[in-house]
Amino acid sequence: MKRISHIHLQVSASNKAVLQFLLCSLRAAHWLHWTSHWQVKGKSFYGDHTLLDRIYNSLIEEIDSLAEKLVAEFGSESVDPAPQAQMMANKLIPIVEAKSMRDPILRALFVEESLQKIFKISYEVLKQRGFLSLGMDDYIMSIANAHETNLYLLRQRTESPMSKKAFNKENPTELINQLIKVLRKNAMNELVDYLYKNKIPQKVNQGWRERKKTPIHSDPFQKYFDENEDKNKMKDPFKY
Ligand SMILES: [Fe+2]
Repeated sequence: MKRISHIHLQVSASNKAVLQFLLCSLRAAHWLHWTSHWQVKGKSFYGDHTLLDRIYNSLIEEIDSLAEKLVAEFGSESVDPAPQAQMMANKLIPIVEAKSMRDPILRALFVEESLQKIFKISYEVLKQRGFLSLGMDDYIMSIANAHETNLYLLRQRTESPMSKKAFNKENPTELINQLIKVLRKNAMNELVDYLYKNKIPQKVNQGWRERKKTPIHSDPFQKYFDENEDKNKMKDPFKY
């Protein structure tokens, strides 16, 4: 089994596997964006609901084109539903849900950022293998281009003052501040005084700033990119 970051490809390393993974990623994106379309709420509901409607609908044509290319090249079993659904449910969607903390807009943003990485790596791998027909080259380029527009729209949205700032539970400084807020809210001021008297917030902040900076590989493919950043030669991540 080949490990790509935390994603395990269970199929044999092949051009078919690369395209199946790409198809699965697009289907997962469609599934997740559609869900986000239903789950957005609040002041910017209408704009978010409409934006996500536009994004998930645009994926249908992209998925359809790729699935038809797979069938033409590798036969109809290459798009069998069960392996696609399993990869989505067991690998891709849990990563996205953990990363976005179930915030529908952050989820959409993370999906689009991940898709760009997947397009890039799929393109480079297929090109290196000499498996990039003119049609496939054009296909990947055009979907990458369309999804860059999605990224632009979502980034504009998340930078707007109306956007909800997600609480970062992986940041200890934010955690200790959150704890103090909760303690104060519940009139546990003695405990707050104790924390300040013993300089706990400062110590946590200092420890966090001086932490050993090892990359956290929660993004699909990020580990691969980090490891290969300075290498000129493109490694083939789909090859055993
Ligand atoms: Fe709808």
